[in-house]
Formats: sequence, C-alpha cells, structure tokens
Amino acid sequence: MWKKIALVSLGVWLLTLGFSAYFFIKGAGKTGDDGRLAVTLAREERNLVLAEMRQLLAGVQTILEAITNNDMKVVERTASSLGMKAAADVNPALMAKLPLDFKSTGMSVHGRFDELSLKVHGGMGKDEVLKEVSDIMLTCVGCHQAYRLDEADE
Ligand code: HEC
Repeated sequence: MWKKIALVSLGVWLLTLGFSAYFFIKGAGKTGDDGRLAVTLAREERNLVLAEMRQLLAGVQTILEAITNNDMKVVERTASSLGMKAAADVNPALMAKLPLDFKSTGMSVHGRFDELSLKVHGGMGKDEVLKEVSDIMLTCVGCHQAYRLDEADE
C-alpha cells in the first residue's frame, strides 16, 4: 500500500519535473497584432534584454568605425565584447519565458562575434570583416521581424 503511494507520488513528481523542463526549454509566446510573435516579460526582464540589444547596436557601430580607421585591434576587442560573455545574465525565470528559437538565435549571434574576434586576431582583411558583420546582421534583422517584447501588466 505505502509502496504504491510512494510510486504514485514519485510518478506525479517526475511528471511535474518533466513539464517544467519542457516549458523551461521551449519558452512561451503568442502572435501579436503586428504579426510578430510577442514575448511577454516583466518590466525588469524586458529592460535587461533591451539593454543587451543597445549594447549590440553600439558595438556594431564601434566595429564599423574602427574598420574605417584601420584599427583592427579595436575591431577584435569590440567583437569579443559582444561574444558569449555579453549574453544577458542567465536568469532561469527569464530563460523560461523566451522561446527556444529566440534563445538559440541570440546565442548564435554572440557565438559569431566570438568567432569574428578570433578571425580578426588571425589577420582577416577589412573586406571580409565587413562581409561577416553584414552577414551577422541578417540575424538581427530576421529576429526583429519575427519577435517583439511586450511588458506584462503588473
Ligand atoms: C534573438 C532575437 C534577436 C536578435 C538575434 C537580435 N535582436 Fe535586437 N531585439 C529583439 C527584440 C524582440 C527586440 C524588441 C523589439 C520590439 O519589442 O519591438 C529587440 C530590440 C532591439 C533594439 C531596441 C532596443 C531598445 O532599447 O528598445 C535594438 C537597438 C536592437 N534590438 C539591436 C540588435 C542588434 C544590433 C542585433 C544584432 C547584432 C540584434 N538586436 C539581434 C530581438 C533580437
């Protein structure tokens, strides 16, 4: 009898765990009135993600300016600053709300800036760096077309 109850509660517990893991990985989202997938975040979470976005924009501008100044050291350093270390603090509550595709696309952008930094370190030429930046920015454009961030009503 007790063994049965223990087994059933273990089953329920595992099921709950499975569901939370599923939602944690998958995240959530609904289609907004402009056709983009709206991801609803708490005010501070949205501010955190948008601050990271502004850092990306400022970094891209610094890289373009440094290329025109032939300052590849600055290009290398700035690209590295936009790498994995710039990913928003991995807060489990925030991660659970972001759709899986959003997280993987975001991470791939950070990963590509790390790669770019290494390539510049290895002597990549200006033209190729420009091409690479333009290519990375296609991902910025694609994600902005697919998603928007809404603020949850308090
Ligand atoms: C994984 C998806 C994703 C990627 C990749 C991404 N963004 Fe964003 N970004 C967003 C979303 C969503 C918003 C909010 C848009 C809205 O709510 O209308 C946003 C907002 C912004 C904003 C506005 C910030 C503010 O203060 O309102 C800037 C600037 C920005 N992104 C720059 C960039 C740049 C530059 C890149 C590429 C280097 C980039 N983003 C890559 C999803 C992304």
